[in-house]
Amino acid sequence: MKYSAMRQFLRNIKDLFRNFWKSMIRHGRPTTDRARTQTVVQNFFLHIHPARVNRHALKWCTTIGLGIMTTVLFLILVVTGILLMLYYKPSVLTAYDSMKDIHFVVPTGRVMRNVHRWGAHGMVALVILHMARVFYTSAYKSPREFNWVMGIVLLVVTFALSFTGYLLPWDQLAFWAITIGSSIAGSPQDLTDALGITQYFNPGGFIKEALLGAHFVGEEALIRFYTLHVIILPIVLSAVLGVHFWRIRKDGGLARPASAEPPDPPVPGEDPGPEDTPTESFDLMAIIHDRTPATNQEIENTVPSWPRVFHLEVILTMAVLLVLIVLSLWIDAPLAERANPDVPENPAKAPWYFLGCQELVSYSAFGGGVVIPGIVVLGLLLIPYLEREEEDVGIWFSGRRGWWIAAVSVIFAVLVNIGMLVFTVKYGWIREWFPDLVQKYPRILQIVIMFANPGMVYVVACALWSIGLILWTNSTRMASIGLFTCFLVFFLILTYFATVHRGPNWDFFWSHADWPVVEH
Ligand code: HEM
Repeated sequence: MKYSAMRQFLRNIKDLFRNFWKSMIRHGRPTTDRARTQTVVQNFFLHIHPARVNRHALKWCTTIGLGIMTTVLFLILVVTGILLMLYYKPSVLTAYDSMKDIHFVVPTGRVMRNVHRWGAHGMVALVILHMARVFYTSAYKSPREFNWVMGIVLLVVTFALSFTGYLLPWDQLAFWAITIGSSIAGSPQDLTDALGITQYFNPGGFIKEALLGAHFVGEEALIRFYTLHVIILPIVLSAVLGVHFWRIRKDGGLARPASAEPPDPPVPGEDPGPEDTPTESFDLMAIIHDRTPATNQEIENTVPSWPRVFHLEVILTMAVLLVLIVLSLWIDAPLAERANPDVPENPAKAPWYFLGCQELVSYSAFGGGVVIPGIVVLGLLLIPYLEREEEDVGIWFSGRRGWWIAAVSVIFAVLVNIGMLVFTVKYGWIREWFPDLVQKYPRILQIVIMFANPGMVYVVACALWSIGLILWTNSTRMASIGLFTCFLVFFLILTYFATVHRGPNWDFFWSHADWPVVEH
């Protein structure tokens, strides 16, 4: 039937919302597999997901949702960080007062700051747990090696974000923790000093100055940390995260055991079966050439991403938000007195995830702050290239033998680590044993302690343990499970020890209640 222009116009008004909706969402209700696929691939926000996922990816024990929760935390940190930027003033004169304003004056400022602070702690914890999950399910193996490397970059950038954010409140805690942190960054100078070559080659001094913009923590350092924290590092993290997600797709989805793989498609040229032998052939962008278009068909072991993956993501987002908001209403982020460069904080403790490193630094800044973290990061990067057994991908601990090796490694690591700590607390280390030599040959002793300190002893013990495991089990996978487990135990025990048992002057105390009252 023909409509006059006026009738057509009235009809357009009536259908305005329906037509607007149709122009935006160009598929019907997602009740068929085809519409579910369109829901994902035609939506800007959803099309990062594949149209279908393997059923194995949806089991909670496959990922425990750790990667998604880390992503959610990063997004929450970006949003709350931008809100905090509206009030925070990055200058030595104004930073502390603006933090107080955010906390006590700005409506909802306290909760925003708390969510940002607890979210940052949560992101560090989750990224470590996510790495452990990827490791223990062998999800770093071919073809996912490079994504593991991208993951390590994300880990380092996450730590850097946290380190740079720590200075911004400009309180005593921040100032002195960053003062220590920056001298660790400059600690290669200890080595060049001991070798007597600093005037020709001084990488430590260069790194420290590049970080602080001066020889001390002040205005230049604050503005550098601020720029790194709010612009450079978030951009780097977002870009690497984009590659990380893209690689998950290109590597064929999440790692899964062979039993979860769909059966191989029929080989072209072979008889696919008695019925419907296709006569046509199909191409996809000159990449795939086959005899079936395979559209709108159940592919074995897979389900459409819509709606299950999205339900999971919404549930995890809600759970993360709920925990963060409850925590933020309940516990306030700390804010000590205004930074005072004349009154050192004693002890000046770094945030919990750097405390293990700080414990090692108490023996040698260069050894504990540069050499051992360097060995750990390099070791993590090399895992997928040195451990290349192809079996048991997607299986936690590669089966019963791996569980057992992990359990024995925990016992070994706890014994060695606690043994070392008890020994050093009771008997000290080389400096306490040979005070005369320290006086006579300070440079030589300094170099010795850089490479022969309790942390190094532990690293060597773990390396020997994993070599022993290779010989014993005849498996590089079992050896890597042993080594990685030792590394996790090492991190946990040192973190616990430095949090609970270290007090003023980094001395040993059974608890905080035993600390002496330090007069400023
Ligand atoms: C900002 C930090 C990170 C974020 C936001 C992130 C996010 C994700 C997400 C959402 C996934 C999908 C599966 C899942 O939810 O677990 C994933 C997978 C993966 N991630 Fe990460 N990740 C981060 C850091 C890391 C780190 C530190 C590593 C390891 C060193 C890593 C290695 C991998 C690998 C290899 C996969 C594929 C796993 C598989 O196929 O099962 N990621 N990541």
